[in-house]
Amino acid sequence: KKFKIAVLVGSLRKESWNKKMADVLPEFAPDTLVLETINIGKLPFYNEDLETSPPQEWTMFRKHLASFDGVLFITPEYNRSVPAVLKNAIDVGSRPYGKSCWEGKPGAIISVSPGRLSAFGANHHLRQSLVFLNIPAMAQPEAYIGNVASLFDVNNNLTNESTQRFLKGFMKAFAVWVDRNIPEK
Ligand code: FNR
Repeated sequence: KKFKIAVLVGSLRKESWNKKMADVLPEFAPDTLVLETINIGKLPFYNEDLETSPPQEWTMFRKHLASFDGVLFITPEYNRSVPAVLKNAIDVGSRPYGKSCWEGKPGAIISVSPGRLSAFGANHHLRQSLVFLNIPAMAQPEAYIGNVASLFDVNNNLTNESTQRFLKGFMKAFAVWVDRNIPEK
């Protein structure tokens, strides 16, 4: 069995640590999980007035999301919360009312920060939205990746061994979580 997982990254910058994490993550995932990073940077801001004739970017994003079995959020923390670009993607995917693309898809969160608090605030603010969206979000293991700059080498390989072990365990648990929580079709 294989599961398609949409990876949403909460940072748009070129040298983003979160993006680097998304890039190396397939190395640590069991091969039952097929990870694909979805671009959320070009989605127009959510505006309910546009639903009568939704922007093409929204329509494509919603259609694309629907083709995945689960979602993995990799996010930094902005001002103790979720970056606007990620919240916007969540909002766009959640509408029109009654047609949320998130409904029932098993999910997980990895929060990443160069600082010591490991984006805990973003991780948990995000969980609040996932509860409402009926995304069963894996509770354990939790993934708070702090001091992230020290974990990679100059070629953007994640070389820290204890983090490698942690991510392997996390992704293995997520594979089990997806398998258990995927809605019957
Ligand atoms: C930050 N940063 C930050 N870090 C943190 O641990 N807690 C926070 O509340 C904030 N707040 C915050 C607000 C804004 C507007 C910016 C631009 C940055 C620092 C942040 O963790 C750092 O820039 C990361 O490198 C961002 O992630 P990427 O872009 O490297 O993936």
